[in-house]
Amino acid sequence: MTRPVLGVRLTGWGAYAPSLVLTNADLEKMVETNDEWIVSRTGIRERRIAGPDETTASMAAVAGLRAIATAGLAPDDIDLILVGTLTADYPMPSAAALVKSAIGNKRAAAMDLAAACSGFLFGYATAYAYIMSGFAKHVLVIGAETLSRATDWTDRGTCILFGDGAGAAVLSASEEPGGTLGVHLTTEPSGAYFIWLPAGGAARPANAATLEAREHFMKMKGSETFRMAVRTLGSTATAAVQKAGWTLDEVDLVIPHQANIRIIEGLAKALDFPMDRVFVNVQCYGNTSAASVPLALAEAVDAGRVKPGDKILLVAFGAGLTSAAIAFEWTGDPAEAARAAGIGHEQVSIAPGYLDAINPFPPDLEWVRARQSSPAVEPA
Ligand code: UT7
Repeated sequence: MTRPVLGVRLTGWGAYAPSLVLTNADLEKMVETNDEWIVSRTGIRERRIAGPDETTASMAAVAGLRAIATAGLAPDDIDLILVGTLTADYPMPSAAALVKSAIGNKRAAAMDLAAACSGFLFGYATAYAYIMSGFAKHVLVIGAETLSRATDWTDRGTCILFGDGAGAAVLSASEEPGGTLGVHLTTEPSGAYFIWLPAGGAARPANAATLEAREHFMKMKGSETFRMAVRTLGSTATAAVQKAGWTLDEVDLVIPHQANIRIIEGLAKALDFPMDRVFVNVQCYGNTSAASVPLALAEAVDAGRVKPGDKILLVAFGAGLTSAAIAFEWTGDPAEAARAAGIGHEQVSIAPGYLDAINPFPPDLEWVRARQSSPAVEPA
């Protein structure tokens, strides 16, 4: 007889960042901005940009395979694939369906989750519920974005912020209690239009007028979003810690959504939590939306910032306005990262023909072509 599921543990982790680097100096050539302004207002120094042959699904597949490898599993052990993204390759099929094909899984259900920058953590919470209910044993949760293709490269208020990438985790059923202890999600629609993408959906299908008005790119009310972010991240983080039965001083590492160093510092201040126990990599990647927390998590493990038994707090905030926090005990062996070392250098094939519809880069991103090295993921 199968024993009941008593806990949900994070057993695998992985990330993928494209090799193209867009620096603040590059942005100075594209819009009226400067390195000093960007660094002092955001903390961002550079971000990664997907090459012409890369998409959200291709990056997600590599991060996912790396997470499956660190979990010591095979792709077919995964029962459910969840991809948090606001930049799926297509409105349909889901990015998750393309990921399933790319990783060679034959059995999983696969779907996308739309919660913007909180997408990975909404996926984590969904996986938690599916596992605790007995529906799934191993769930692959991915946050992946190609924000460079939804960014208005003429808008200095947004284009300095965003980057591309993917991160993933495997969550597994456990017959022991522990692992994931505090899960808290919120959605506050009064700020639904603080960050949004006006055209291309059912309300405003893309047409010549929407293209002319550049409405198929992300728009943002920066300072309203900023204030709401600091307030909401603090309350969501506190709620997850309370649900876990911890106090904040017991938390070993906070891994927040990497939107802006000032938001992260504002969160630490609001919680009275020391910055040396907050993981930050926004300087290297900018805001990668749903990819940001799992990308930071994988880097924190690689940097030796987590060890078995540590109490970890993940917290994110994004369009919707959504917010999510997960408090969990680290149960993985950081040395397992070695298993994923070679993955992503070989070919990972997506559905045949899936690259045919990719938009060409806008002409002002010619530097991408000029500096492009071989993509890490070649299409079939
Ligand atoms: O994942 C969640 C989604 N998004 C976020 O979390 C982003 C939240 N917001 C922010 O991070 C910040 O609001 C920004 C970084 C976007 C902007 O920083 P800010 O300190 O709120 O600046 P501001 O929008 O109040 O602009 C201050 C000044 C303005 O000039 P004036 O009107 O004071 O003369 C802007 O025009 O800075 C100007 N400015 C720039 N200057 C140089 C705005 N963008 C730029 C730029 N370079 N890129």
